[in-house]
Amino acid sequence: MHTSQPLDALLSRRSQKLVQAPAPDAAQLTQILQAAACAPDHSALRAWRFALIEQADIAALADLAINATRQSGREITPEKEKNMRTWLAQVPLLIALAYKISHDNAKVPEIEQTLSMGAAVMNIQNAIHLLGFASYWSTGLGTYTDVVPEALGFDGLDYRFVGFLAVGTPITTAGPAQRPDVMSFTHVWKPTPARQ
Ligand SMILES: Cc1cc2nc3c(=O)[nH]c(=O)nc-3n(C[C@H](O)[C@H](O)[C@H](O)COP(=O)(O)O)c2cc1C
Repeated sequence: MHTSQPLDALLSRRSQKLVQAPAPDAAQLTQILQAAACAPDHSALRAWRFALIEQADIAALADLAINATRQSGREITPEKEKNMRTWLAQVPLLIALAYKISHDNAKVPEIEQTLSMGAAVMNIQNAIHLLGFASYWSTGLGTYTDVVPEALGFDGLDYRFVGFLAVGTPITTAGPAQRPDVMSFTHVWKPTPARQ
């Protein structure tokens, strides 16, 4: 099989929840976010939006998310809260992820807008990995409340909020991930022979 170093790098990416300082520096972060703008983007909507939450502010975000989740009627047990706070205490950077909705766009239905956002986040995760850092996409932390997206500047009328990336230096060395054989998900289509 032909291999190339960039492809090997791509194939070795895996999510890592437990990250610590240092986070990517400002120049690296610019490169990482620039990778988002390389995502496929029908009609050049440029809808991707990001909010950076630095280490000093992550505890306040955790307070907001825990309160908002409880107020929305979802349970967070004291043990879960403790685990969440312990995890976040080490995380040096969160990137909040959203896209600006192009309402009633006849050319670009919202599924395509969502897909472009997903592609942008994937590019960000790959760029983080290529620079030797790690990330973890989470839709915990009050993603599906009204309060958290709004507090981050992404009100639900105009934006679709899709969660957070925890970004930093991996705390443990993870072995290779178990990946499925994707050929088992793939088939070759052939036209049905025309009926006589
Ligand atoms: C949109 C999205 C949201 C996710 N939210 C969570 C989450 O809240 N909690 C969680 O444990 N994993 C979540 N994950 C999964 C992890 O980010 C990660 O993809 C998973 O652990 C598999 O690791 P891998 O990326 O190395 O395959 C989410 C994934 C996606 C795509």
